[in-house]
Amino acid sequence: MRAIEFQEYGGPEVLKVVQAEAPEPGPGEVSIDVAYAGVNFADLKARAEGYRVPSLPFRPGLEVSGRVRAVGAGVEGIRPGQEVAALTGGGGYAEVVVTAAATVFALPEAVSLRTGATLPTVLPTAHALLHEVGRLRAGETVLVQGAAGAVGTVAGQLAKAAGAGAVYGVVSEAAKAEHALKYGYDEVFVGPGFVDDVQRATGGRGVDLALDPVGGDTLRRSLDALAVFGRLVSFGNASSAEPWQVGQPELYPTGRSVSGFSILSLAQTAPGSLRELAERAFRKVADGTAELPVTAEFPLADAAEAHRLIGSRTSTGKLLLRVGA
Ligand SMILES: NC(=O)c1ccc[n+]([C@@H]2O[C@H](COP(=O)([O-])OP(=O)(O)OC[C@H]3O[C@@H](n4cnc5c(N)ncnc54)[C@H](OP(=O)(O)O)[C@@H]3O)[C@@H](O)[C@H]2O)c1
Repeated sequence: MRAIEFQEYGGPEVLKVVQAEAPEPGPGEVSIDVAYAGVNFADLKARAEGYRVPSLPFRPGLEVSGRVRAVGAGVEGIRPGQEVAALTGGGGYAEVVVTAAATVFALPEAVSLRTGATLPTVLPTAHALLHEVGRLRAGETVLVQGAAGAVGTVAGQLAKAAGAGAVYGVVSEAAKAEHALKYGYDEVFVGPGFVDDVQRATGGRGVDLALDPVGGDTLRRSLDALAVFGRLVSFGNASSAEPWQVGQPELYPTGRSVSGFSILSLAQTAPGSLRELAERAFRKVADGTAELPVTAEFPLADAAEAHRLIGSRTSTGKLLLRVGA
């Protein structure tokens, strides 16, 4: 089978097509003939700086859709030939991938394999940020960094559908604001001056919930954009800044809180909770509440082009690799 691998960290050019033996599932695992692989920002961080890479060479790819090829000993409720979407610990950029049965999800009826590949990382993440972690209540205001990206596109729609009073986004380029405004956002701010924009838009009150995948100064400023009793959820570090040790001085005076979320950690530590979360989140696509538009699709061998596009910070929505579809 063909797979994408890198043997050293670096730019998109380190992604190489290799021929390899198709992997077999061990106990509790499932192998999948991959139809589409989702491209995530975390894949760029793996390639460039070794994020969650245990050793080299490494095959990137955190999510796929496809048909079950074989199931390992002890796996129940999943059968060969079934159409599924799956989170993988890596290795999704390949014609065949093996992953834990705990993170393989039957595709809801009427969800195609192409749409299925957009679901595993983004839908549960956006749902958890707003609901399980962010505890959004109807009428509250929300601020989302990276509003035109994959998570941002879904978060805008889910927040609106949950009855948010106003949904504000932040993007780095005016062209991306147009995209976000089609997906649930009431207003989209461009660039690092967003705290002033939030204060103006909310009459100086601030937002109830802010979602931050950027880290560094943006995370700190997101705290400044919160209303009294506001919640900030950190879920990424796109800026590659040093982690911020948020402490008592910032949190005491206004009763603000800071929390976090990682779908990959949840998959490892609480797969049952992830499954329940994924079912709730996938339903939002099956019933038409949210969609994640595929804005670019590349053949597997052109994975580097997909990385270049996300790395250029001009992409919107979801990028897929077409593998066996
Ligand atoms: N914690 C979790 O469980 C979880 C799950 C999925 C994704 N994430 C995180 O959520 C974020 C979005 O992921 P995604 O896969 O949906 O990607 P994406 O949003 O489609 O693309 C990356 C986004 O990062 C923003 N960005 C900010 N600083 C950047 C930088 N220095 N270089 C490149 N992009 C930068 C870009 O928006 P602007 O150019 O508009 O700023 C862009 O929207 C990432 O930080 C990712 O790690 C976390």
